[in-house]
Amino acid sequence: MDGIVEESAVGYAKNAWYMAAWSSEVGKTLFARRLLDIPVVFFREEDGTLVALEDRCPHRFAPLHRGRLINGVVECAYHGLRFDTAGTCVHNPAGDTIPPQARVRAFPVCEKHHIAWIWMGKADLADPALIPDFSCIPDEPGECANIGNYLHVRANYLLEIDNLMDLSHVNYLHHGTLGNDSMRGHKVKVHEEGGAIHADLWMPGTTAPIYSPLYGQHCDQWTNMIWMAPSCMRLDYGVVSPGEPAIQQPEDVAVHILTPETGRTTHYFYGTCGVFGTEQRELAEMIRAAQTAAFVNEDNPMIEAVDENMGGADLWSLRPAILSSDVASVRVRRAIEKMIRREREATSDEVVGAEAVVA
Ligand code: FES
Ligand SMILES: [Fe+2]
Repeated sequence: MDGIVEESAVGYAKNAWYMAAWSSEVGKTLFARRLLDIPVVFFREEDGTLVALEDRCPHRFAPLHRGRLINGVVECAYHGLRFDTAGTCVHNPAGDTIPPQARVRAFPVCEKHHIAWIWMGKADLADPALIPDFSCIPDEPGECANIGNYLHVRANYLLEIDNLMDLSHVNYLHHGTLGNDSMRGHKVKVHEEGGAIHADLWMPGTTAPIYSPLYGQHCDQWTNMIWMAPSCMRLDYGVVSPGEPAIQQPEDVAVHILTPETGRTTHYFYGTCGVFGTEQRELAEMIRAAQTAAFVNEDNPMIEAVDENMGGADLWSLRPAILSSDVASVRVRRAIEKMIRREREATSDEVVGAEAVVA
């Protein structure tokens, strides 16, 4: 574990697709959400096309979401400037010419897997092929689907990633709910594939936890977490009778997607895959309730307390004790730090290049 303490990487990787919202959250009215410290307002055009604009009027910086939508144009509630879907000012009620500063930033957005994705870095790099793979979410997930869940967390998003990539916490923090004594002490196997980081935990000869249909019985079980840049995770889990083949069931796949709101707060989107029709309502509600209870009652109070104890400091600056179970979370942090460093280097190269041209 040498070399873990690296240069602090405060900030965000910007050239990446972040989850802005579940598609179902955004309609034909103005919807505001702060992402990566930037206020953004979303809405849909008449044909359903998603639009994301900076939620800050360039005149006196009023939040545009307090205004109104008129035929696909946003009117600022303060003095009436209007902006189209590209962020161009198309109406100045004062009647004079429109100053060049009167424009707002429009962000590339894309919808896939029932998720609205946003790109907050350089717009010309926004390639939809880079959207993290959540094809595990069915196109038709059913009337009682357990996706579309959301929690607001008062903690830095990297602390949430640490939590999800180190599932050894399940057997302590979730003791008696998702975990139990028999699940302790198994070693996580970490590997990287196509830029994704996998943390696989195989727990043979253990006791099935409460959420399992085999609850209390002897079993083999697994929890395999996969991280995809910048802050998306998928959990494949399962419980089988000892020696049975460990076949992954599609409904036993959970999504955990995080997007920084600010440096100290995070949007947490979660759910499970599989198809849940009305006949699976009870099962879907049971899974949703178990997940939400674990996050609200067990994970979040701890993660928020950790954030408070750290007081906004970068993890490495506090020189943390590192355990072998930290391997996956440290790898993910390194990967994110690398993305941030590369973006900074590219930006400084551009500045140097521009200066050379001017000279
Ligand atoms: S602040 Fe928006 S028009 Fe004045
Ligand atoms: Fe947890």
